[in-house]
Amino acid sequence: MTTRILGIESSCDETAAAVVADGRQILSSVVASQIDIHRKYGGVVPELASREHLRSIVPVVREALAQAGMALRDVDAFGVTCGPGLVGSLLVGLTYGKVLATSLGKPLVAVNHLEGHVHAVFLEAYRGSSQPELPAVCLIVSGGHTVLYEVSSPESAKPSGATIFAYRRIGQTRDDAAGEAYDKVAKLLAFGYPGGPVIDKLVARAIELGYDRLVPNPFGPTKLKGNPYDFSFSGIKTAVLYYVRAHPELHPEIERRQEALARGERSAATLLALSTPQTLALLAHFQRTVIAELVRRTIGAAAEFAARSVLVSGGVAANAGLRATFERETAEREVPVFFPSRELSTDNAAMIAAAAFAKLLAGDLADATLDARPILPLASPSAQAMLPVGDPKSGIGRS
Ligand code: KG4
Ligand code: ZN
Repeated sequence: MTTRILGIESSCDETAAAVVADGRQILSSVVASQIDIHRKYGGVVPELASREHLRSIVPVVREALAQAGMALRDVDAFGVTCGPGLVGSLLVGLTYGKVLATSLGKPLVAVNHLEGHVHAVFLEAYRGSSQPELPAVCLIVSGGHTVLYEVSSPESAKPSGATIFAYRRIGQTRDDAAGEAYDKVAKLLAFGYPGGPVIDKLVARAIELGYDRLVPNPFGPTKLKGNPYDFSFSGIKTAVLYYVRAHPELHPEIERRQEALARGERSAATLLALSTPQTLALLAHFQRTVIAELVRRTIGAAAEFAARSVLVSGGVAANAGLRATFERETAEREVPVFFPSRELSTDNAAMIAAAAFAKLLAGDLADATLDARPILPLASPSAQAMLPVGDPKSGIGRS
């Protein structure tokens, strides 16, 4: 018999609902993005996010059921994100899930948002021919998180939708998340919000045109003491700021882009036409440096911990340059790399429903006392990661 779980995700600025069968097959997946609301502030405004979730949650859940051809009574269990994230946002999805489960007398499963991102990779792989083997090293890289886990299972090296994963945190960012660095650099140079997708497109063009060779890379590799699998992205963001200050010739084009954004003209083509080769080269070097850090440390961890596969998930996993670099570097080492599709890389509820399935089978259920957990680690740090570190961000907020 098939088990159909309705997943609900509202940890940040996406209200999402999805139905997944047996933790493997996506029957529907609906995501209502709030980007248009937060764009003018250059980042997510928590109060506005909660308000939008309240507006969207009921229609989004209805739409997910309609697309799956189901009624509420056909749902076997509810999976809800309980953390980490913005408390007001989390509470909306979690409360709605709780009410539905209680009123229908169906099981409720609490899911860690980060575990959802891990499951997104497996959900995608189930659609294809090859699947990740365990143990794996998983990089979750988004606007709120940059964290590296070892994913294993005592049961099997070849997981199914029902496999319970064990997680060990190998490293994490000590300051900004990688997606946050994209967004801040985009804000500084007037490329709009969110920064990642547009920078990704502009860099591809810059490299095609050979602009990256015009200007030497002003960013060196990030040096960190202690855990070699930690990350840091605030330095490169500040380096971009200093570069812009030291190059006043860039200021008029920044103003022109700001004016274009204010008129609502934010397509990559428009922004490209308003950017000099010098700026495009700067973006290319920024992206190359961020990718090099992510790939080098992830692959280093995969080698040290004898991973049989590398998994990459979260919004930044949609980056074409990151994917190509991971593909190249892992092929050389004969460790396969797995990414979710673009839709499953960014926040969605299918990954939450998938993560809920194994917990449901294991009887790991939540009850009416379930509360939102703005800070919720997926795993405690490994002995490696407990070497002296700076002041790691707690993982509050976006992921
Ligand atoms: O996982 P996600 O949808 O949400 C949260 O962070 O909550 O990730 C969004 C982040 C943003 O920082 C965005 O700039 C970044 O992912 N991002 C990208 C790309 N697409 C989204 N960064 C680099 N390249 C991309 N193609
Ligand atoms: Zn996320």
